[in-house]
Amino acid sequence: MVTLLAILLVTLLATLPESRSALPTILSESDQSVLTKVSVFETGRFHPITSDIGSCSTCSPPKPLLIVRPKEDGKYPVILFHHGTACQNSWYTDVLKFISSHGYIVIAPQLYRWMPPSGQSELDMAAEVANWLRSGLRCVLPENIEGDLHNLALAGHSRGGYIAFALALGHADVSPDINFSAVIGVDPVAGTSKKDQVEPKILNYEPCSFSLSIPVAVIGSGLGNKPVLPFLPQACAPDGVSHTEFFNECKPPCSHFVPTDYGHMDFLDDDIGLIGSAARLICKGSKWGVSRDPLRRTAGGVFVAFLEAFFKGNDTDYNKILINPNYFAPATLDPVQSKSEGTSCSSLSAMSMPAFAFE
Ligand SMILES: *[C@@H]1O[C@H](CO)[C@@H](O)[C@H](O)[C@H]1NC(C)=O
Ligand SMILES: *[C@@H]1O[C@H](CO)[C@@H](O)[C@H](O)[C@H]1NC(C)=O
Repeated sequence: MVTLLAILLVTLLATLPESRSALPTILSESDQSVLTKVSVFETGRFHPITSDIGSCSTCSPPKPLLIVRPKEDGKYPVILFHHGTACQNSWYTDVLKFISSHGYIVIAPQLYRWMPPSGQSELDMAAEVANWLRSGLRCVLPENIEGDLHNLALAGHSRGGYIAFALALGHADVSPDINFSAVIGVDPVAGTSKKDQVEPKILNYEPCSFSLSIPVAVIGSGLGNKPVLPFLPQACAPDGVSHTEFFNECKPPCSHFVPTDYGHMDFLDDDIGLIGSAARLICKGSKWGVSRDPLRRTAGGVFVAFLEAFFKGNDTDYNKILINPNYFAPATLDPVQSKSEGTSCSSLSAMSMPAFAFE
Protein backbone atom coordinates (compact mmCIF):
# COMPACT_ATOMS: atom_id res chain seq x y z
CA MET A 1 0.00 0.00 0.00
CA VAL A 2 2.75 2.41 1.01
CA THR A 3 4.70 1.42 -2.09
CA LEU A 4 1.68 2.05 -4.22
CA LEU A 5 1.23 5.48 -2.66
CA ALA A 6 4.89 6.26 -3.19
CA ILE A 7 4.66 5.26 -6.84
CA LEU A 8 1.57 7.41 -7.25
CA LEU A 9 3.31 10.36 -5.62
CA VAL A 10 6.41 10.01 -7.74
CA THR A 11 4.31 9.76 -10.88
CA LEU A 12 2.37 12.85 -9.85
CA LEU A 13 5.52 14.84 -9.13
CA ALA A 14 7.05 13.76 -12.41
CA THR A 15 4.06 14.92 -14.44
CA LEU A 16 3.07 18.05 -12.51
CA PRO A 17 5.94 20.51 -12.99
CA GLU A 18 6.35 19.73 -16.67
CA SER A 19 5.67 23.25 -17.83
CA ARG A 20 7.95 24.71 -15.21
CA SER A 21 10.95 22.51 -15.80
CA ALA A 22 11.68 24.40 -19.01
CA LEU A 23 11.89 27.70 -17.19
CA PRO A 24 15.35 27.61 -15.58
CA THR A 25 17.00 27.01 -18.94
CA ILE A 26 16.07 30.55 -19.91
CA LEU A 27 15.51 32.34 -16.62
CA SER A 28 17.72 31.84 -13.62
CA GLU A 29 15.92 30.01 -10.85
CA SER A 30 17.52 32.30 -8.30
CA ASP A 31 15.64 35.21 -9.81
CA GLN A 32 12.54 34.75 -7.68
CA SER A 33 10.77 37.78 -9.12
CA VAL A 34 10.18 36.08 -12.46
CA LEU A 35 8.46 33.16 -10.79
CA THR A 36 5.53 35.26 -9.70
CA LYS A 37 2.63 34.99 -12.10
CA VAL A 38 2.09 37.77 -14.56
CA SER A 39 -0.80 39.90 -13.34
CA VAL A 40 -1.99 40.93 -16.82
CA PHE A 41 -3.70 37.54 -17.03
CA GLU A 42 -5.79 38.26 -13.92
CA THR A 43 -8.62 40.79 -13.74
CA GLY A 44 -7.11 44.22 -13.09
CA ARG A 45 -7.71 46.64 -10.23
CA PHE A 46 -10.13 48.96 -12.05
CA HIS A 47 -13.87 48.36 -12.15
CA PRO A 48 -15.18 48.39 -15.71
CA ILE A 49 -18.49 50.04 -16.58
CA THR A 50 -20.19 49.37 -19.90
CA SER A 51 -22.55 51.72 -21.69
CA ASP A 52 -24.31 51.79 -25.05
CA ILE A 53 -24.35 55.08 -26.89
CA GLY A 54 -26.83 55.22 -29.76
CA SER A 55 -26.11 57.27 -32.83
CA CYS A 56 -29.07 59.51 -31.90
CA SER A 57 -27.52 60.49 -28.57
CA THR A 58 -26.59 64.17 -28.14
CA CYS A 59 -22.94 63.26 -28.76
CA SER A 60 -23.97 61.94 -32.22
CA PRO A 61 -21.36 59.26 -32.88
CA PRO A 62 -21.51 58.17 -36.55
CA LYS A 63 -22.35 54.63 -35.39
CA PRO A 64 -23.76 53.13 -32.16
CA LEU A 65 -20.98 52.46 -29.67
CA LEU A 66 -20.34 50.07 -26.81
CA ILE A 67 -18.07 51.87 -24.36
CA VAL A 68 -16.20 50.00 -21.65
CA ARG A 69 -14.23 52.20 -19.27
CA PRO A 70 -12.94 52.17 -15.70
CA LYS A 71 -15.27 53.51 -13.01
CA GLU A 72 -12.30 55.17 -11.28
CA ASP A 73 -11.37 58.77 -12.16
CA GLY A 74 -8.35 59.12 -14.40
CA LYS A 75 -6.88 59.46 -17.85
CA TYR A 76 -6.67 56.21 -19.81
CA PRO A 77 -5.36 55.04 -23.20
CA VAL A 78 -8.10 54.32 -25.75
CA ILE A 79 -8.68 51.20 -27.87
CA LEU A 80 -11.01 51.22 -30.89
CA PHE A 81 -12.25 47.65 -31.25
CA HIS A 82 -13.94 46.43 -34.46
CA HIS A 83 -16.30 43.44 -34.48
CA GLY A 84 -16.15 40.51 -36.91
CA THR A 85 -18.47 39.67 -39.82
CA ALA A 86 -22.10 39.97 -38.70
CA CYS A 87 -21.03 39.98 -35.05
CA GLN A 88 -22.47 42.31 -32.41
CA ASN A 89 -20.10 44.46 -30.37
CA SER A 90 -21.76 43.20 -27.18
CA TRP A 91 -20.56 39.65 -27.90
CA TYR A 92 -17.05 40.78 -26.93
CA THR A 93 -18.07 42.23 -23.54
CA ASP A 94 -16.07 39.75 -21.41
CA VAL A 95 -12.73 40.34 -23.08
CA LEU A 96 -13.32 44.10 -23.35
CA LYS A 97 -14.17 44.34 -19.64
CA PHE A 98 -11.07 42.35 -18.83
CA ILE A 99 -8.90 44.79 -20.80
CA SER A 100 -10.64 47.82 -19.27
CA SER A 101 -10.04 46.47 -15.75
CA HIS A 102 -6.36 47.16 -16.40
CA GLY A 103 -7.00 50.86 -17.00
CA TYR A 104 -8.14 51.21 -20.62
CA ILE A 105 -11.14 52.79 -22.34
CA VAL A 106 -12.49 50.57 -25.12
CA ILE A 107 -14.77 51.96 -27.82
CA ALA A 108 -16.46 49.25 -29.89
CA PRO A 109 -18.59 50.64 -32.73
CA GLN A 110 -21.41 48.62 -34.30
CA LEU A 111 -20.52 49.32 -37.92
CA TYR A 112 -23.60 47.51 -39.33
CA ARG A 113 -26.14 45.04 -38.04
CA TRP A 114 -26.18 41.73 -39.93
CA MET A 115 -25.31 42.09 -43.60
CA PRO A 116 -21.71 43.23 -44.10
CA PRO A 117 -21.40 46.16 -46.53
CA SER A 118 -18.48 46.33 -48.98
CA GLY A 119 -15.04 46.42 -47.38
CA GLN A 120 -14.59 50.02 -48.50
CA SER A 121 -17.83 51.27 -46.94
CA GLU A 122 -17.18 49.39 -43.71
CA LEU A 123 -13.71 50.93 -43.61
CA ASP A 124 -15.04 54.42 -44.29
CA MET A 125 -17.55 54.06 -41.47
CA ALA A 126 -14.74 52.94 -39.16
CA ALA A 127 -12.72 56.00 -40.21
CA GLU A 128 -15.66 58.29 -39.45
CA VAL A 129 -15.92 56.85 -35.95
CA ALA A 130 -12.16 57.31 -35.42
CA ASN A 131 -12.34 60.92 -36.61
CA TRP A 132 -15.33 61.60 -34.36
CA LEU A 133 -13.28 60.69 -31.26
CA ARG A 134 -11.47 64.03 -31.10
CA SER A 135 -14.67 65.98 -30.62
CA GLY A 136 -16.99 63.25 -29.40
CA LEU A 137 -15.12 61.16 -26.84
CA ARG A 138 -15.25 63.90 -24.22
CA CYS A 139 -19.02 64.05 -24.69
CA VAL A 140 -19.64 60.34 -23.98
CA LEU A 141 -17.42 60.10 -20.90
CA PRO A 142 -18.18 61.40 -17.41
CA GLU A 143 -16.30 64.53 -16.36
CA ASN A 144 -13.59 62.78 -14.35
CA ILE A 145 -12.74 60.16 -16.95
CA GLU A 146 -10.47 61.23 -19.78
CA GLY A 147 -9.44 59.34 -22.92
CA ASP A 148 -5.79 59.76 -23.87
CA LEU A 149 -5.97 60.02 -27.66
CA HIS A 150 -2.18 60.24 -27.95
CA ASN A 151 -2.30 56.59 -26.92
CA LEU A 152 -4.92 55.26 -29.31
CA ALA A 153 -4.82 51.63 -30.44
CA LEU A 154 -6.75 50.08 -33.33
CA ALA A 155 -7.94 46.54 -32.79
CA GLY A 156 -10.47 44.10 -34.14
CA HIS A 157 -11.52 40.51 -34.45
CA SER A 158 -11.82 38.56 -37.73
CA ARG A 159 -12.92 40.96 -40.51
CA GLY A 160 -12.74 43.68 -37.81
CA GLY A 161 -9.02 42.85 -37.52
CA TYR A 162 -8.72 43.47 -41.26
CA ILE A 163 -10.57 46.79 -40.75
CA ALA A 164 -8.11 47.82 -38.00
CA PHE A 165 -5.09 47.14 -40.24
CA ALA A 166 -6.71 48.68 -43.35
CA LEU A 167 -7.51 51.83 -41.37
CA ALA A 168 -3.98 52.06 -39.97
CA LEU A 169 -2.60 51.53 -43.49
CA GLY A 170 -4.59 54.52 -44.75
CA HIS A 171 -7.02 52.72 -47.09
CA ALA A 172 -10.12 54.65 -45.97
CA ASP A 173 -11.53 57.20 -48.40
CA VAL A 174 -12.30 59.42 -45.42
CA SER A 175 -9.07 61.25 -44.65
CA PRO A 176 -7.74 60.51 -41.15
CA ASP A 177 -7.92 63.25 -38.60
CA ILE A 178 -6.29 61.35 -35.77
CA ASN A 179 -3.08 59.36 -35.22
CA PHE A 180 -3.03 55.70 -34.29
CA SER A 181 -0.25 54.41 -32.03
CA ALA A 182 -0.60 50.61 -32.18
CA VAL A 183 -2.54 47.85 -33.97
CA ILE A 184 -3.76 44.56 -32.54
CA GLY A 185 -5.40 41.89 -34.69
CA VAL A 186 -7.44 39.19 -32.97
CA ASP A 187 -7.56 36.32 -35.45
CA PRO A 188 -7.73 38.86 -38.31
CA VAL A 189 -9.21 37.64 -41.61
CA ALA A 190 -8.83 39.54 -44.89
CA GLY A 191 -11.09 37.45 -47.14
CA THR A 192 -12.01 33.87 -47.97
CA SER A 193 -8.76 32.99 -49.76
CA LYS A 194 -5.58 34.49 -51.16
CA LYS A 195 -7.43 34.96 -54.46
CA ASP A 196 -10.53 36.40 -52.85
CA GLN A 197 -9.41 39.19 -50.54
CA VAL A 198 -11.77 41.81 -49.17
CA GLU A 199 -11.42 45.08 -51.13
CA PRO A 200 -9.42 47.20 -50.60
CA LYS A 201 -6.78 44.47 -50.54
CA ILE A 202 -4.09 44.89 -47.91
CA LEU A 203 -2.07 41.66 -48.18
CA ASN A 204 0.84 41.57 -50.66
CA TYR A 205 2.51 38.27 -49.68
CA GLU A 206 5.83 40.05 -49.06
CA PRO A 207 7.48 39.94 -45.62
CA CYS A 208 7.32 43.26 -43.73
CA SER A 209 5.37 44.93 -46.53
CA PHE A 210 2.80 46.68 -44.32
CA SER A 211 3.67 50.32 -44.51
CA LEU A 212 3.21 50.95 -40.78
CA SER A 213 5.58 52.56 -38.33
CA ILE A 214 3.62 51.63 -35.20
CA PRO A 215 3.94 48.47 -33.08
CA VAL A 216 1.77 45.47 -33.99
CA ALA A 217 0.51 42.41 -32.14
CA VAL A 218 -1.19 39.55 -33.97
CA ILE A 219 -3.18 37.02 -31.97
CA GLY A 220 -4.24 33.95 -33.95
CA SER A 221 -6.14 30.76 -33.21
CA GLY A 222 -4.76 27.27 -33.61
CA LEU A 223 -8.06 25.85 -34.92
CA GLY A 224 -9.15 28.82 -37.06
CA ASN A 225 -7.77 27.32 -40.28
CA LYS A 226 -9.56 23.99 -39.79
CA PRO A 227 -13.07 23.43 -41.17
CA VAL A 228 -15.66 22.54 -38.56
CA LEU A 229 -16.27 19.20 -40.24
CA PRO A 230 -13.52 17.49 -42.23
CA PHE A 231 -15.49 17.39 -45.50
CA LEU A 232 -16.43 21.08 -45.49
CA PRO A 233 -14.19 23.21 -47.68
CA GLN A 234 -14.20 26.49 -45.80
CA ALA A 235 -12.49 27.34 -42.50
CA CYS A 236 -13.41 30.53 -40.62
CA ALA A 237 -9.85 31.89 -40.68
CA PRO A 238 -8.38 30.31 -43.84
CA ASP A 239 -4.64 30.09 -44.47
CA GLY A 240 -3.31 32.83 -46.73
CA VAL A 241 -5.64 35.57 -45.42
CA SER A 242 -5.29 35.05 -41.68
CA HIS A 243 -3.00 35.73 -38.72
CA THR A 244 0.11 33.99 -40.10
CA GLU A 245 0.10 36.21 -43.19
CA PHE A 246 -0.62 39.35 -41.14
CA PHE A 247 2.42 38.50 -39.05
CA ASN A 248 4.49 37.84 -42.17
CA GLU A 249 3.64 41.31 -43.49
CA CYS A 250 3.99 43.40 -40.33
CA LYS A 251 7.17 45.38 -39.70
CA PRO A 252 9.04 45.22 -36.41
CA PRO A 253 8.18 45.65 -33.63
CA CYS A 254 5.59 42.92 -34.14
CA SER A 255 4.71 39.71 -32.32
CA HIS A 256 2.55 36.70 -33.05
CA PHE A 257 0.65 34.70 -30.42
CA VAL A 258 -1.25 31.53 -31.33
CA PRO A 259 -3.40 29.77 -28.71
CA THR A 260 -3.23 26.20 -30.01
CA ASP A 261 -6.44 24.67 -28.66
CA TYR A 262 -8.98 27.36 -29.52
CA GLY A 263 -10.89 28.45 -32.59
CA HIS A 264 -11.95 31.62 -34.35
CA MET A 265 -15.16 32.30 -32.38
CA ASP A 266 -13.81 31.31 -28.95
CA PHE A 267 -12.71 34.89 -28.16
CA LEU A 268 -16.37 35.91 -27.82
CA ASP A 269 -18.54 35.70 -24.69
CA ASP A 270 -20.09 32.35 -23.82
CA ASP A 271 -23.59 33.79 -24.03
CA ILE A 272 -24.00 35.32 -27.48
CA GLY A 273 -27.65 34.49 -28.08
CA LEU A 274 -29.22 32.25 -30.67
CA ILE A 275 -27.80 33.89 -33.79
CA GLY A 276 -24.34 34.15 -32.26
CA SER A 277 -24.41 30.52 -31.22
CA ALA A 278 -25.42 29.53 -34.74
CA ALA A 279 -22.49 31.56 -36.10
CA ARG A 280 -20.23 29.82 -33.62
CA LEU A 281 -21.33 26.41 -34.92
CA ILE A 282 -19.88 27.04 -38.35
CA CYS A 283 -16.37 27.63 -36.97
CA LYS A 284 -14.20 24.94 -35.45
CA GLY A 285 -13.80 25.74 -31.77
CA SER A 286 -12.50 24.49 -28.46
CA LYS A 287 -13.57 21.02 -27.33
CA TRP A 288 -17.13 20.65 -26.03
CA GLY A 289 -17.26 21.59 -22.35
CA VAL A 290 -13.84 23.25 -22.28
CA SER A 291 -14.03 26.76 -20.82
CA ARG A 292 -13.14 29.61 -23.16
CA ASP A 293 -12.18 31.78 -20.21
CA PRO A 294 -8.43 30.89 -20.41
CA LEU A 295 -8.44 32.05 -24.04
CA ARG A 296 -10.17 35.35 -23.25
CA ARG A 297 -7.74 36.02 -20.40
CA THR A 298 -4.81 35.12 -22.64
CA ALA A 299 -5.97 37.45 -25.43
CA GLY A 300 -6.85 40.21 -22.94
CA GLY A 301 -3.56 39.77 -21.11
CA VAL A 302 -1.57 39.98 -24.35
CA PHE A 303 -3.45 43.21 -25.23
CA VAL A 304 -2.60 44.69 -21.85
CA ALA A 305 1.04 43.57 -21.72
CA PHE A 306 1.62 44.86 -25.28
CA LEU A 307 0.04 48.25 -24.56
CA GLU A 308 1.80 48.58 -21.19
CA ALA A 309 5.07 48.07 -23.10
CA PHE A 310 4.43 50.48 -25.94
CA PHE A 311 2.08 53.06 -24.38
CA LYS A 312 3.45 53.15 -20.85
CA GLY A 313 7.04 52.10 -21.47
CA ASN A 314 6.89 49.16 -19.06
CA ASP A 315 7.89 46.02 -20.96
CA THR A 316 8.33 43.77 -17.91
CA ASP A 317 5.27 41.59 -18.47
CA TYR A 318 5.44 41.64 -22.27
CA ASN A 319 9.01 40.35 -22.27
CA LYS A 320 8.16 37.64 -19.77
CA ILE A 321 5.33 36.44 -22.03
CA LEU A 322 7.48 36.56 -25.15
CA ILE A 323 10.22 34.53 -23.54
CA ASN A 324 8.14 32.03 -21.63
CA PRO A 325 4.55 32.16 -22.90
CA ASN A 326 3.47 28.80 -21.57
CA TYR A 327 4.68 29.46 -18.09
CA PHE A 328 2.58 32.60 -17.79
CA ALA A 329 -0.42 32.48 -20.15
CA PRO A 330 -3.62 30.66 -19.09
CA ALA A 331 -4.08 29.10 -22.58
CA THR A 332 -1.38 27.05 -24.30
CA LEU A 333 0.43 29.09 -26.95
CA ASP A 334 2.65 28.06 -29.85
CA PRO A 335 6.18 29.47 -29.49
CA VAL A 336 5.76 33.23 -29.78
CA GLN A 337 7.24 34.68 -32.95
CA SER A 338 8.51 38.17 -32.75
CA LYS A 339 10.25 40.73 -34.94
CA SER A 340 12.23 43.23 -32.96
CA GLU A 341 13.74 46.53 -34.10
CA GLY A 342 16.80 45.85 -36.21
CA THR A 343 15.54 42.52 -37.56
CA SER A 344 16.23 42.21 -41.25
CA CYS A 345 12.98 41.53 -43.08
CA SER A 346 14.54 39.65 -45.99
CA SER A 347 15.40 36.70 -43.78
CA LEU A 348 12.14 36.53 -41.88
CA SER A 349 10.07 33.92 -43.64
CA ALA A 350 10.89 30.93 -41.44
CA MET A 351 11.83 32.91 -38.40
CA SER A 352 10.89 32.15 -34.84
CA MET A 353 12.64 34.22 -32.23
CA PRO A 354 11.85 33.71 -28.59
CA ALA A 355 13.34 36.90 -27.24
CA PHE A 356 12.29 40.44 -27.98
CA ALA A 357 14.67 43.33 -27.61
CA PHE A 358 13.31 46.68 -26.55
CA GLU A 359 15.30 49.86 -26.74
C1 LIG B 1 -0.37 63.31 -35.96
O1 LIG B 1 1.02 63.18 -35.88
C2 LIG B 1 1.72 64.16 -36.65
C3 LIG B 1 3.19 63.84 -36.59
O2 LIG B 1 3.60 63.53 -35.30
C4 LIG B 1 1.39 65.54 -36.11
O3 LIG B 1 2.05 66.52 -36.87
C5 LIG B 1 -0.12 65.76 -36.20
O4 LIG B 1 -0.46 66.99 -35.62
C6 LIG B 1 -0.85 64.65 -35.47
N1 LIG B 1 -2.27 64.80 -35.73
C7 LIG B 1 -3.19 64.82 -34.76
C8 LIG B 1 -4.58 64.99 -35.21
O5 LIG B 1 -2.90 64.71 -33.57
C1 LIG C 1 6.12 47.42 -14.54
O1 LIG C 1 5.20 46.35 -14.52
C2 LIG C 1 5.45 45.38 -13.53
C3 LIG C 1 4.49 44.23 -13.75
O2 LIG C 1 3.16 44.66 -13.81
C4 LIG C 1 5.31 46.03 -12.16
O3 LIG C 1 5.57 45.07 -11.16
C5 LIG C 1 6.30 47.17 -12.06
O4 LIG C 1 6.12 47.83 -10.85
C6 LIG C 1 6.12 48.15 -13.21
N1 LIG C 1 7.21 49.10 -13.22
C7 LIG C 1 7.00 50.41 -13.19
C8 LIG C 1 8.22 51.26 -13.21
O5 LIG C 1 5.88 50.89 -13.15
